[in-house]
Amino acid sequence: MTETLAVKTSSLAKRFNDIPAVAGIDLEIEPGAFFGLLGPNGAGKTTTVSILATLVQPTKGEAAVFGHDVATARPEVRRSIGIVFQEPSLDTELTGRENLDIHARLYRIASRAREIDRTLDLVDMRKDADRPVKTLSGGMKRRLEIARGVLHQPKILFLDEPTLGLDVHGRRDLWRHLDGLRDSGMTLLLTTHAMDEAERICDRVAIMNEGRIAASGTPQELAAAVGGDRIEFELERAEEALTELRRQKGGYDAWRENDMVVLTVRQAATQLVAFVEVLKPFGIHAVRMREVNLEDAFVHFTGHKISASGDLE
Ligand SMILES: Nc1ncnc2c1ncn2[C@@H]1O[C@H](COP(=O)(O)OP(=O)(O)O)[C@@H](O)[C@H]1O
Ligand SMILES: [Mg+2]
Repeated sequence: MTETLAVKTSSLAKRFNDIPAVAGIDLEIEPGAFFGLLGPNGAGKTTTVSILATLVQPTKGEAAVFGHDVATARPEVRRSIGIVFQEPSLDTELTGRENLDIHARLYRIASRAREIDRTLDLVDMRKDADRPVKTLSGGMKRRLEIARGVLHQPKILFLDEPTLGLDVHGRRDLWRHLDGLRDSGMTLLLTTHAMDEAERICDRVAIMNEGRIAASGTPQELAAAVGGDRIEFELERAEEALTELRRQKGGYDAWRENDMVVLTVRQAATQLVAFVEVLKPFGIHAVRMREVNLEDAFVHFTGHKISASGDLE
């Protein structure tokens, strides 16, 4: 018998009036995976997570969490999952411990005090647990939400853009704690619009855009599908240079980022000289190269680049 998938969806779709928020997606997440649903604002990430959490009913298709159908086995699904919502959801007037205690009572957890300490330790929040939530940093609040999300020992934790609004230190710190959860065997489904985040912490990702899955695989597989290297040309006249490159139809991706033209190619070393020839008339200020990454793959599969704030450029 094959192992039950942590998440399986078939042709899953959700319409809000005339908006196809999720437009027929097939997802498979293995138990124990750290899976990233990657896409710009409005891609349909939150709607997908909300369906899996039984908070939104799909218009079409099916979804199951650890074999439990979200439409017909809601209590079983809810017992299997923990959620960290995109919007902060702690009571800020209460302490962290009090917030967790409410959740523990809701789930009828035995040995509440011990279990709360156990999850506070998972995210290094025990010593700050008795401070009112309103006095905590954004990163600490996120860690408390994670502690609350795993208090009832779910098999899978959904995290909807958990690092939104955190500074560099807060993000790194949260990544470290999520790594720890994964190492403990928990399945994680994280949504994000930050490519570096997905590349850094997820085993597998699905690129979502306009309600559809454009591609999925490991970050390395997706980058490999694009090609080997990325070349950046800083140019006097970038837009004209891009027009010329596109006219040549060379079987590579090329796009503009401010005064740069960016190319993804099989092998920069063998092709660089030819590109320099073509771009010389447009005034080359600088040339940089590196291996392609998930950010380049996203542009390749969707035709768009995501800005730092998560909107499509
Ligand atoms: N409750 C709702 N009513 C109407 N439209 C919605 C609702 N929730 C989401 N949408 C729309 O569905 C699309 C996908 O939204 P969402 O799932 O929140 O995307 P993401 O989380 O990737 O930013 C967007 O166009 C959004 O405006
Ligand atoms: Mg969202």
